[in-house]
Amino acid sequence: MRMYDLICKKKRGGHLTNEEIQFIVKEYTRGDIPDYQMSALMMAICFQGLDEEETLSLTLAMRDSGEVLDLSEIDGIKIDKHSTGGVGDKTSLVLAPMVAALGIPVAKMSGRGLGHTGGTIDKLECFPGFSTALSEQQFYQNVNKIKLAIMGQTANLAPADKKLYALRDVTATVDQLSLIASSIMSKKLAANADAIVLDVKTGSGAFMKTEEDAFALAKEMVQIGKNAGKQIVAVITDMDQPLGNAVGNSLEVKEAILSLNGLGPKDFMEVVYALGTEMVMASGRAQTMEEAKQMLTQTIEDKTALDKFAEFVEAQGGDKRFVYQPELLPVAKFQLQVQNTEEGYVSHIQAEEIGLANLMLGGGRLTKESSIDLSVGILLHKKCGDLVHPGETLATIYANDMEKAKDAYGKIVCAYQIQSMPVEEKPMIKGVVR
Ligand code: URA
Repeated sequence: MRMYDLICKKKRGGHLTNEEIQFIVKEYTRGDIPDYQMSALMMAICFQGLDEEETLSLTLAMRDSGEVLDLSEIDGIKIDKHSTGGVGDKTSLVLAPMVAALGIPVAKMSGRGLGHTGGTIDKLECFPGFSTALSEQQFYQNVNKIKLAIMGQTANLAPADKKLYALRDVTATVDQLSLIASSIMSKKLAANADAIVLDVKTGSGAFMKTEEDAFALAKEMVQIGKNAGKQIVAVITDMDQPLGNAVGNSLEVKEAILSLNGLGPKDFMEVVYALGTEMVMASGRAQTMEEAKQMLTQTIEDKTALDKFAEFVEAQGGDKRFVYQPELLPVAKFQLQVQNTEEGYVSHIQAEEIGLANLMLGGGRLTKESSIDLSVGILLHKKCGDLVHPGETLATIYANDMEKAKDAYGKIVCAYQIQSMPVEEKPMIKGVVR
């Protein structure tokens, strides 16, 4: 088999067989196919696409390029949850302990933030001592014992995807649906939970800017999951404005703790419950969606989810006092209020711009190696649909550098759009793909 011939075949719209795709992934991971040939193939795929069979072959070949976790040591139906990423998305911090508080095993792999989007691992590192660098054995033990563990992606999980994603990133070949779907799913399948609940974000802060693209991506991922024998569902949720009110690691952790105390923002809790009911249903622990929602609500009301979160933080080396005393979490030195100048209704908050403002403050990273400031961020006091008057505060910037705060100020002002007419409330949940 020659890579040259396979590139030609795809360039002309041909179908790559499972054997051919396995050859490509194996040889590329080993370093026997050079980046320039792989780039040419990726570009051919961008123009010609992959069919369902090719997408599955690519996903499974990438999954099998490294280690596939064996979760059989964990009792019960193991559930994983994955978000395609957004701004202010602290969903896992609330959802995972709620579901685990019901005795349902949550075995989750998480990542760090990159660019304008945040990551669960960075948020959890706000707790001194907390570590997601668990050995596989510790991961299994924690899930068995307390029903919840969150682990960082190990170096040997889908290494082919790691190498290929880095290549796609610099060759303008990221935004092809089948390539995105196979990349995400190769890692989810290597993490190997029995059931997967996907949160596919759509809107200005999401990877998929349009609902049409978000649904198309969700369908491809669900199809891959089903073909690989997993129980899988994708919920398409709004990311056209930041989720909840807090953006920035420490601020988001505080908002998560508030939510576990029953004081979560409405838009955020809507997403938490939509995903949570799917997780409970996947576990087989409820007969109807209403019953699942009721069970989840109970975990907030009786504080079992809050206690589960504290137990989880402690089990992974963190200081659980911070869960009950969130004022101990890192706080930035300066606070700068963003003033409103117009009368009207907030019609839109460009989520990506808010995410970039947090990045400018030092709360995000431009490369995987950058270090971040956990204490900075933005607290939004006004969200879409709110009536605002001149002189009112739209948001508070938390910064450790006044110059950076001033730069972020301009970005936040531009992110807010205000109109004279009232704004119709948009649903947070756009649909579900099963
Ligand atoms: N996230 C991934 O893991 N892979 C992609 O291709 C895009 C987003």
